[in-house]
Amino acid sequence: MIEKEIMIKNELKVQAFEWTGTSVKILDQRLLPEQIKYDEYFDAQGVYEAIKSMRVRGAPAIGIVAGYGVALSVKQHYSETNKNWKGKVAEEIKKLSTSRPTAVNLFWALGVMEQSLNKRTDNPITNAIHQAELIHAEDIQANLKMGELGADLLADTKAVMTHCNAGALATGGYGTALGVIRSAHKRGLITVYAGETRPWLQGARLTVWELAQDGIASTLIADSAAAWLMKSGKLDWIIVGADRITANGDVANKIGTYSLAILAKQHGVKLMVVAPISTVDFTMESGSEITIEQRGSNELLADCYNENESLVSAWNPVFDVTPAHLISAIVTERGVVLNPVEKGVRSLKL
Ligand code: MRU
Repeated sequence: MIEKEIMIKNELKVQAFEWTGTSVKILDQRLLPEQIKYDEYFDAQGVYEAIKSMRVRGAPAIGIVAGYGVALSVKQHYSETNKNWKGKVAEEIKKLSTSRPTAVNLFWALGVMEQSLNKRTDNPITNAIHQAELIHAEDIQANLKMGELGADLLADTKAVMTHCNAGALATGGYGTALGVIRSAHKRGLITVYAGETRPWLQGARLTVWELAQDGIASTLIADSAAAWLMKSGKLDWIIVGADRITANGDVANKIGTYSLAILAKQHGVKLMVVAPISTVDFTMESGSEITIEQRGSNELLADCYNENESLVSAWNPVFDVTPAHLISAIVTERGVVLNPVEKGVRSLKL
């Protein structure tokens, strides 16, 4: 890892996970902000469960942790005498790919790890660990770059709002949307609003807490207060992360992003999407192709309504798709696309 990345890691108070060399320690985000508890995982099955149960969440973080999961799988199964180790690792990669469906970073990172297994090497374990660490380091680097590019767009901005948690907790470090807010804060931005992000409350439990750890003040609002805030004229930009961006510039992100985008258009507020290139899915032409994760009714229903026994059910899609025409700018480490409705994000493809 280069020196600057190490410096940033130490500077950040919040870290969603840590690679120890033989295991990955994962902060259980379900317990925040009341409790800070890291669980340690030594195999791919454990990493799969940590992602599925949302101990670790956020598109880039899911991808990076899955990469470490593959490294742990190689560590467990590789030996000079086990001729079938690659078969075992392939099975675990398949399992990891079923942990969550919407964030493309998971599939991207698993693909990178899979490719690295085919490299000629005397030491497949070191090779896999190195590859996973590289995915992690490159994510931090991308976030630092996006932070500056996004902050450049915020000249004269008085106030921004963010949704969900697209911060250090959701990435390798520094964050995407919160990375831009961190960089802009260093340049003098003072007013940050965060939506609570029902039903899982990533905004209320994670974002305002994470910003406070770094000494950045923020104001929490109920999701349903966003329209009224925009009507007040106080807000200039909404800044969010993404789980998958398709070639035409459509963006899948946390449920509620689409309604914020419509409200923003109505009130002349601009919408910035910040995501690394690993979140761009050039194989999909438009957002209509994206699988939207549905989560359990228990995340919405009060305990007294047991779905099997009552007339009350719940519909709980946890992502939505914002069409490109509602987005003002997509910021990646490869550059910024303004008005993606015009040409999508194809110009970012190498
Ligand atoms: O369900 P989650 O908490 O994993 O959803 C996270 C989001 O929607 C984030 O906004 C997105 O992954 C970007 S994180 C940098």
